[in-house]
Amino acid sequence: MRVLVLGTGGREHALAWRLRQDREVSEVIAAPGNPGIGEVARLRPVDTSDPAAMLGLAEAEAVDLTVVGPEAILDRGTADLFRAHGRPILGPSRQSAQLECSKAFAKNFMARHGVPTARFRVCDSAGAARATLASGEFGYPVVLKADGLAAGKGVVVAMAREEADAAVDAAMVERQFGDAGALLVIEECLAGPEVSFFVLCDGTRAVPLGTAQDHKRIWDDDRGPNTGGMGAFAPSPLVSPDLAATIQARIVDPVLEGMRREGHPFIGFLYAGLMLTPAGPKVIEFNVRFGDPEAQVILPQLQGPLASTLLAAANGCVQGGTLAPSVDRFVGVVVASGGYPASAESGQPIDGLRRAAAVPDALVFHAGTRQMDGRIVTAGGRVLTVVGRGATFRSAMETAYRAVGEIQFNGMQFRRDIGRKAVAAESEVRA
Ligand code: AMP
Ligand code: GLY
Repeated sequence: MRVLVLGTGGREHALAWRLRQDREVSEVIAAPGNPGIGEVARLRPVDTSDPAAMLGLAEAEAVDLTVVGPEAILDRGTADLFRAHGRPILGPSRQSAQLECSKAFAKNFMARHGVPTARFRVCDSAGAARATLASGEFGYPVVLKADGLAAGKGVVVAMAREEADAAVDAAMVERQFGDAGALLVIEECLAGPEVSFFVLCDGTRAVPLGTAQDHKRIWDDDRGPNTGGMGAFAPSPLVSPDLAATIQARIVDPVLEGMRREGHPFIGFLYAGLMLTPAGPKVIEFNVRFGDPEAQVILPQLQGPLASTLLAAANGCVQGGTLAPSVDRFVGVVVASGGYPASAESGQPIDGLRRAAAVPDALVFHAGTRQMDGRIVTAGGRVLTVVGRGATFRSAMETAYRAVGEIQFNGMQFRRDIGRKAVAAESEVRA
């Protein structure tokens, strides 16, 4: 099989690397990719804002399957175009991608199908939003979400009225997120630990891929501004087999059934961001693709033929049981540029990549890197995800940080506590 991976980042590096392990895969092509991906795949340039260009590449390379990394590619209708030309692609149609790309769509959809989520209202003007806040319906803190894709910046958890009003103004008056702020979702603030739940969908069925916990804040102990994700571990010790069955029955199955009944069967990776509340798991958000950095800790866990399982899903006939999770634990630490998340210094030479990759049981995935004058330099906010594997979270964490310790570049920042919560859960079980 020949597989094309679309995108450029740590998630796409993990996808390309894992697909390359499959005996059935003869070649992985990645577009546009990055220097790390170039070690496991043949790189081709492509304009990822142009669905016809991506289809042209898949046809020219005669690939058997295309796998999409980022949501923006799906929001442009790339999967629709591939399917119209009979080219297998793993990723939802533009309409199914609304589960992630429009929070108003996702909330109304969940309400229609009885999927547990925070109580909410969709507001179509600043006046309506202020009236909702004034009604006191949700109390404080309250959560405000710009409807569309806002590069991870569209969600505000407001502690008081002034902060909530400022969020309304930013989104709906100043239009800081452009059209993404034309609608605003105002919702109840939920409390509880957050877990990420991943399934592979073929339009009718969903097979579990695993669970993980992300670390969204820039600094240790979950302090500081939100980021795209500073690290993750897998599997989540909070998701027991019973809870996984509940999530599948109350959340995943109704979503698949609802999308199918509404005429938009969901094909692709579905990532449910969940809060484990005292009243049971509730959906915080859906993503219609793999998570980053969750992919980097879940994909190395999956044993079995990945490419043919993804192709079966793309063709509407996925089967459970082809992919077995390993019993190992995985901890992934994101190494970011100075200034991230507000800005990102680029062009800094990175030292120690080979030494880090040579640490036993460590994996180094590239996110924001590029080649310059024969060296690998930084190119963006999140630069690398360094993953450690171990029989316990403690050993996985030690391995990840030993490998991070080999890497150096100007301004480099990373959290020192990725995996700590999992190690604590592990010690409780032992005690
Ligand atoms: P999102 O951009 O949708 O991933 O949201 C960013 C973060 O905001 C989530 O990871 C949660 O920590 C938080 N969040 C979103 N919705 C809620 C909610 N209803 N209650 C509490 N926290 C929330
Ligand atoms: N890890 C968060 C995301 O991929 O959106």
